Amino acid sequence: MSHSLKSSHSEKTANSRRTFLKGALSAATVATVASVATTSNALASSHASMAGIVYTKKNPGKWAKKVGGHLPSITIEGNKVTVNTDHGMSAKHYIVRHTLVSKDGETLGAKTFTPDDDATSSYTLPDGYKGTLYASSFCNKHDFWLAESKV
Ligand SMILES: [Fe+2]
Repeated sequence: MSHSLKSSHSEKTANSRRTFLKGALSAATVATVASVATTSNALASSHASMAGIVYTKKNPGKWAKKVGGHLPSITIEGNKVTVNTDHGMSAKHYIVRHTLVSKDGETLGAKTFTPDDDATSSYTLPDGYKGTLYASSFCNKHDFWLAESKV
């Protein structure tokens, strides 16, 4: 009996969390759309509200001394894109994952690393892709970094 009461309670909690998340995502979407409408550099302006969550060259926040080892570099050659983070790889401290995301928010590719890997990933762009590309790099100690480039 008490077991079923308990699970019903956690279900309720999970539901309200989902509702909360939906609300948070909608708010984020509205904020992004507002940025797009007011500036050509939507990413840079939306970062003001992402302080402490997303780190960039412009907004490195508390990791200002860590930019060189954490900001991903994006190299584009034809339809090949290479993302690199100039960061050491050890079991205690390493780059966990890269993603490459289109201007429309579509994940074009992602790579999850182990400490034995190099923090380099390669992707092929969809045919005819033009516009901004976003690369993310996540360090297990120094959080989530975002860079952008244009094709
Ligand atoms: Fe790091």
